[in-house]
Amino acid sequence: MSVPMEVSSVHGSDAAAEDKVLVPVEVCLKSSSAARVDDVRPAVERMLEKRSLSYTDGPIRVPTEDAFLAENVQSIRICEADEGTQEHGVLLFWQVKPVVHVFQLSEEGPCEELTTDGQLSSFHEWTLPAKEFDGMWESLIYEPGLKKRLLRYAQSALLFTEKGVDPFLVSWNRIILLHGPPGTGKTSLCKALAQKLSIRFNSRYPQCQLIEVNAHSLFSKWFSESGKLVARLFQKIQEMVEEDNNLVFVLIDEVESLAAARKSALSGSEPSDSIRVVNALLTQMDKLKSSPNVVILTTSNITAAIDIAFVDRADIKAYVGPPTLHARYEILRSCLLELMRTGIVSNIKELDMFSIPSYASVQGRVMPVQDLEMADLCNALVEAADACEGLSGRSLRKLPFLTHASLAEPQWCNPVKFLQKMTDTAKRERSELPD
Ligand SMILES: Nc1ncnc2c1ncn2[C@@H]1O[C@H](COP(=O)(O)OP(=O)(O)O)[C@@H](O)[C@H]1O
Ligand SMILES: [Mg+2]
Repeated sequence: MSVPMEVSSVHGSDAAAEDKVLVPVEVCLKSSSAARVDDVRPAVERMLEKRSLSYTDGPIRVPTEDAFLAENVQSIRICEADEGTQEHGVLLFWQVKPVVHVFQLSEEGPCEELTTDGQLSSFHEWTLPAKEFDGMWESLIYEPGLKKRLLRYAQSALLFTEKGVDPFLVSWNRIILLHGPPGTGKTSLCKALAQKLSIRFNSRYPQCQLIEVNAHSLFSKWFSESGKLVARLFQKIQEMVEEDNNLVFVLIDEVESLAAARKSALSGSEPSDSIRVVNALLTQMDKLKSSPNVVILTTSNITAAIDIAFVDRADIKAYVGPPTLHARYEILRSCLLELMRTGIVSNIKELDMFSIPSYASVQGRVMPVQDLEMADLCNALVEAADACEGLSGRSLRKLPFLTHASLAEPQWCNPVKFLQKMTDTAKRERSELPD
């Protein structure tokens, strides 16, 4: 019987492939580079094979000894290897199958649509991946799993589409809602997610756009214009979507403003124009849903009162909360490294400036104990992170600046002193928070 034999041999090779952990490697080309992706990818794969090191998240050096790569490649980054590490211990090169994504950043900047009065723009448009959003995904720090979950969700949704899964048999959609208090990075996370996906899917969708709908502008005093604005906006989106090679992200930020307008219109306290606008928007969203190459990203600063019409439409609803102790430590760590890099805070002598231990290694006590200076620094960092409980990610990223501005002698800035001052500043900021 030949069939079982065939099955087992197929299964055997599958098992070998299954053993390997797929690790995305993102390769950013220089803006001056005219190299073909199909030439760069194998060159990077060969380089990674030769590298024979373990895989950890973060940038790796572009090899200067490889003239082709040195000339064309701006940066190489290993992504999501740390997740594999949790299951496998340290990820060694032979356990990994790198999946190389080559891209070039668009430097165009946002393109804005002005209305006839020249004041309001109903949307901004970016070509992705855009220079403005480079590094944004990495800078956003949440409890483990949130970013990965969003990425996996969107990847699955796009894959189902690509494979032509019949939506009558298996239903899914491409609407994401992030909700939570202001300043927790929801808008940034939407943009960063769009950027990530544009990189990961660039072989299927060579062109990619992000349209940020300005919900507030749709409720301008020029209500009579609003209907037209929505119609024009979605007509434009529809045109983009009809192009099969285009991947289009539509970001509708702070949908609660739409929901609120609809509610007050229903109760008769607002002009009925606004209800028409919101209904037009919902209808247009439903229409867009049937297009395979569109992902709708929405955010809301409030959860409880949000209009059911919006919540219902979203398939994935993720709560984005204020940063946990772990996230606060990491955010402040990244701030401190940046101030050291720029020389605003002095570097501890002899220490490599990228060597402040991560929260995970501080918790796991992997840190060398004999290094007292570093231990002091980590303790001060944990203390500062602790003092920041309740502050949003946005406030945290402003804290180093406020701290610096409050120093009596800013030219003498040792990191531990700086962190102690930051703890005081955080306490002051917290005392000024509304209850
Ligand atoms: N969890 C976080 N990790 C890192 N930075 C954050 C985080 N949350 C917020 N920030 C910072 O705050 C800024 C503002 O976030 P934003 O996306 O406008 O928040 P929201 O839309 O939730 O009000 C971001 O650009 C980022 O610098
Ligand atoms: Mg926002």
